[in-house]
Amino acid sequence: MRELPVAETIRHGVLEIEGLRVRADGGTLLDVPRLVLGGPGPTVILGPNGAGKSLLLRCLHGLIRPDRGAIRQDGVPLDAAIRQRQAMVFQRPVLLRRTVAANLDYVLRRRGLGRGDRRARIGALLAEGGLARKARQSARSLSGGEAQRLAILRALAIEPEVLFLDEPTSALDPAATQAIETLVKRASRRGMRVVMVSHDIGQARRMARDVVLMRAGRVVEHAPAAAFFAAPATLAARQFLTGTLVI
Ligand SMILES: Nc1ncnc2c1ncn2[C@@H]1O[C@H](COP(=O)(O)OP(=O)(O)OP(=O)(O)O)[C@@H](O)[C@H]1O
Ligand SMILES: [Mg+2]
Repeated sequence: MRELPVAETIRHGVLEIEGLRVRADGGTLLDVPRLVLGGPGPTVILGPNGAGKSLLLRCLHGLIRPDRGAIRQDGVPLDAAIRQRQAMVFQRPVLLRRTVAANLDYVLRRRGLGRGDRRARIGALLAEGGLARKARQSARSLSGGEAQRLAILRALAIEPEVLFLDEPTSALDPAATQAIETLVKRASRRGMRVVMVSHDIGQARRMARDVVLMRAGRVVEHAPAAAFFAAPATLAARQFLTGTLVI
């Protein structure tokens, strides 16, 4: 038997979808017979508005229960214990009406960390995200880019095996976008599985190791990023890359 490369064998957070169906009002919103997200590096989910990208992410994080099908992480069906090892960041950050530091403290306390450990971890996180000088500021008074950085730091604080991001930079300027991309890439390099929805083809080129292209609730292509951008296999992908794909 051929041995798997080391990076594959030691990796956690392999997501597997089988026979997934989500319906509403008699229509099918998602139909994904099989999808395995397990390679190294970020997966970027691309597709036009209404393609089902957010729905797929919500299913993977257990926020929506599909009508049919199974979702497994490392071979285990999604349950409360697995969800604890995942984190999700939304397009618009949802922050507590407290200080920046207190937003991080809240999730660390829920994970049972002692006071000293929490303080050290908060300091390290704020330094990593360039928010050290904002520690005592109200989270609600942060700029959009700062607030999104805090939302990502809060997700990273619990060291999830899988980090889901749903268009985390769509409202941000290029500098703020770059700051977020750097945080996410670093987390990915540390071994965190990153699954990110984006509208931005440039971002997918910068971030993705593999690309999932969705259209009308289906996965039309899943390929290594280099292959996807150099020689897309499907007409839908070619149309998407040239800006002519519609739902
Ligand atoms: N709870 C729901 N009930 C009925 N329809 C829904 C529900 N949630 C999503 N949909 C529909 O499912 C489709 C996919 O929605 P989804 O939010 O996943 O799209 P998306 O690919 O994330 O699009 P966007 O790029 O605009 O964010 C849309 O047509 C949406 O109206
Ligand atoms: Mg969406």
